[in-house]
Amino acid sequence: MNLMEMKQAFTAQFGESSEEISVFQAPGRVNLIGEHIDYNGGYVLPAALEFGTTLLLRPRQDKKLSFKSMNFPYHVELHGDVKSLAESKTGEWVDYSVGVIVELGKLGRDLTRGYDFLYNGEIPNGSGLSSSASIEVVTAYGLLSTEGYLADRVEIAVLSQKAENGYVGVNSGIMDQFAVANGAKDHAILLMCDTLEYTKVPFVTGDYKLVISNTNKRRGLVDSKYNERRSECDQALQLLQSRVSGLDYLAQLTPEQLEEHQAVLETKPLLERAKHVVEENARVLKSVEALKQGDLAAFGQLMNASHDSLRDLYEVSCEELDVMVEEARKIPGTLGSRMTGAGFGGCTVSLVHQDDVEKFVEQVGKAYEERTGLKGDFYVCGVGEGVHQIEGV
Ligand code: GLA
Repeated sequence: MNLMEMKQAFTAQFGESSEEISVFQAPGRVNLIGEHIDYNGGYVLPAALEFGTTLLLRPRQDKKLSFKSMNFPYHVELHGDVKSLAESKTGEWVDYSVGVIVELGKLGRDLTRGYDFLYNGEIPNGSGLSSSASIEVVTAYGLLSTEGYLADRVEIAVLSQKAENGYVGVNSGIMDQFAVANGAKDHAILLMCDTLEYTKVPFVTGDYKLVISNTNKRRGLVDSKYNERRSECDQALQLLQSRVSGLDYLAQLTPEQLEEHQAVLETKPLLERAKHVVEENARVLKSVEALKQGDLAAFGQLMNASHDSLRDLYEVSCEELDVMVEEARKIPGTLGSRMTGAGFGGCTVSLVHQDDVEKFVEQVGKAYEERTGLKGDFYVCGVGEGVHQIEGV
């Protein structure tokens, strides 16, 4: 749907007004490498997608907030004061937006007026490409801009994560919101999750394309297993802190330090979780070196190693993700393939020679369907911009 059609839909929903409609866009994200590292204080390497969520926003004459979406029938009109919003949790998609407004209020940035919101999302739901972070970040950026604040992107990422953790109640790390807020065209974002220092790493892939393969497998276990992995990492950290002084996060350990002190980890799963974190963190830095040197083959190998570790040591993959990766690796032009995001369903990301992309989509799609009974979806995708304004204000 183009901008003109979205604006027509907006006026059809909310009517005419003398106030201007402003339009903002936030992308989805794909994590290239560094999985389950953000909440362990290490390095991640996500990139913004070329598709995401568009928000059309217009001030109202009263103080109400009216939320509508082109994707979901659920819509609601709420009173704009932060106290009543804090008690308005619905369990619906609007919680992502309302959570952000509640967090803005905590920063002393209560909204000065009411607004009509219309969202149009292009990110398949539950695909692990951060549709929720995209809604949060576009809401924060849109409101801050319209209310006349300077919108600091790191601050936006942090408050959006707080909305997700506190209001929505999902205990995610900072990676998704950070990538959606700070993404840059043709660049990956190397983020140090402990300090939030980051650099933009040119993502120059020449004849190779990023192919995102959606397993269309519902991510059923994701919340419970995600929290379980987080608490296993906390346990491993506590045990290791008795041996290594000044250790604040698991990802601060070097592979050599882990080797030296591993006996303190009481069970096999704890050791395996810690091993994944420490080695995956090291793989991120190696990936950045490989990308800087234009060594895509080495980067592909690191992607493969990442998936294998998530499958065998961290145990967050699933049959559908493993089949998708196995089939992807059979295509000669595939340099690397791995699951991306939290796991237990969602998407894989592969680096594929452009001459083989068609074959990839056809053969991997066919084999995936034969082996799992599910139909996959494939997106050949470049790296896009972080949140930005398109029109208005
Ligand atoms: C989800 C979370 C992120 C991150 C990834 C795993 O996407 O929202 O914070 O932990 O899983 O890398």
